[in-house]
Amino acid sequence: MANYINNEEMARVSGFYELLREENAAFEAEHGRRRRALVETHGCQQNENDSERIRGMLKEAGYDFCTELEQADLVVFNTCAVRENAEDKIFGRIGILKHIKEKENPDMTIVLCGCMVQQEHIAEKIRKTHRQIDLVFGPHALYRMPELLYRSYNSRKTVIDIENTDGAIAEDIPVMRDAAHKAWVSVMYGCNNFCTYCIVPYVRGRERSRKKECILAEIKELAADGVTEITLLGQNVNSYGKDLDEDIDFADLIRMVNKVDGIERIRFMTSHPKDFGERLIDAMAECEKVCPQLHLPFQAGSDKVLADMNRRYTRAEYLEKLNKAKERIENLAITTDIIVGFPTERQEDFEETLTLLKEAEFDMIFSFIYSKRVGTPAAEMESVLSEEQKHKNFERMLELQNEISRKKNEAYVGKVCRVLVDGESKTDKDMLTGRTDTGKIVNFPGDSSLEGKYVEVEITKAQTWSLYGKMAD
Ligand code: 5AD
Ligand code: SF4
Repeated sequence: MANYINNEEMARVSGFYELLREENAAFEAEHGRRRRALVETHGCQQNENDSERIRGMLKEAGYDFCTELEQADLVVFNTCAVRENAEDKIFGRIGILKHIKEKENPDMTIVLCGCMVQQEHIAEKIRKTHRQIDLVFGPHALYRMPELLYRSYNSRKTVIDIENTDGAIAEDIPVMRDAAHKAWVSVMYGCNNFCTYCIVPYVRGRERSRKKECILAEIKELAADGVTEITLLGQNVNSYGKDLDEDIDFADLIRMVNKVDGIERIRFMTSHPKDFGERLIDAMAECEKVCPQLHLPFQAGSDKVLADMNRRYTRAEYLEKLNKAKERIENLAITTDIIVGFPTERQEDFEETLTLLKEAEFDMIFSFIYSKRVGTPAAEMESVLSEEQKHKNFERMLELQNEISRKKNEAYVGKVCRVLVDGESKTDKDMLTGRTDTGKIVNFPGDSSLEGKYVEVEITKAQTWSLYGKMAD
């Protein structure tokens, strides 16, 4: 069973809140205002969820929050390592921060955490060339943030904690949620799959499942606070329970979550095709609260590339499972992740990705050009296609998928959908935005008092990425 951080250790870390509050009170006495913090999240939903905990810890320690870097006394970048362009963007943001610190606010505290900095070569680069950074810690040290922050306030050097462990589970970290009506709930952490392109298993450690009691208690608490939609998170949710002493899998878990009063919608991500099977399909079909939505990354359409990626399924197996899910779950929306330009991908392999797209007809895809990650097996492989060809292929794929996405969205026109309202549209104040049970974004005119409520919307127009409609009478 996964190693849980014990109560004594959690209590020891909690002791640092008091010390930070004292430091922050001294700051407030001197400046006539509280210290202001800003947390910027890069990367996936797991990071969003971690950032909510970072804000929770900071609030507990007595910080206020702000939205402009220039106003912040403490800036936390929660980083991502999955592709090079994510890292480049973060280093660009660090450059801006360093400039602000040098020119405007020498007392600013800069914290980098998350997956990018868990990599030894990145930590080394920061140590050598980014001395303005005060604190660096990886995903394993998240629960210790109050202690690390306190230490960094009392140290002239950069404090770095990127000890490489398999990882443990820390429960009861304070949390400040972004939305009142929907929430992320992690069911497991880490990944054991070691797909040859992926850095995640190296930075987030081994698979470890939370006990069902902890997960259900969190969800009940959320429901009591008015949350009605939850998304269960894990790098590979289909492995849930494999490391637990009791006999439980992800299908069992979602059946239990389905019984929690107050919760109306359950989503989950991400499923690995190799472990995705009938037990989960049955549970999805039978649990009325589980949304008809499946994110099932296939990554590549050719068996050769799938083998080189160490994905441990074939194209035919993938399609068979997907088709079973489509047959069994009414109105199922499907999405996927795809990598274009894996080193061993030849042109004929790429063509198979296109034929798979045509065959499966996904509602939406998340697609990426392969990015070399230091320390992964694929980083040692020679690239077959030129970068130029990879980009051409990528564009071709998007063109094809845009057509499919639009066609699938057009099938919604004339239907009435139940939509959970997220709030005002960012681009048009008179419009609300929300999602259908299938995860489609719907924009429609309405009053912002409807935020967090379910409304019936008649779909009147479809675009490639979203739907438009009007509230049904
Ligand atoms: N290059 C490009 N895309 C990657 N992904 C993971 N690692 C890489 C990489 N090295 C993609 C996969 C995964 C998604 C979260 O990111 O498609 O499913
Ligand atoms: Fe990376 Fe593969 Fe694990 Fe997903 S399943 S996090 S792609 S190693």
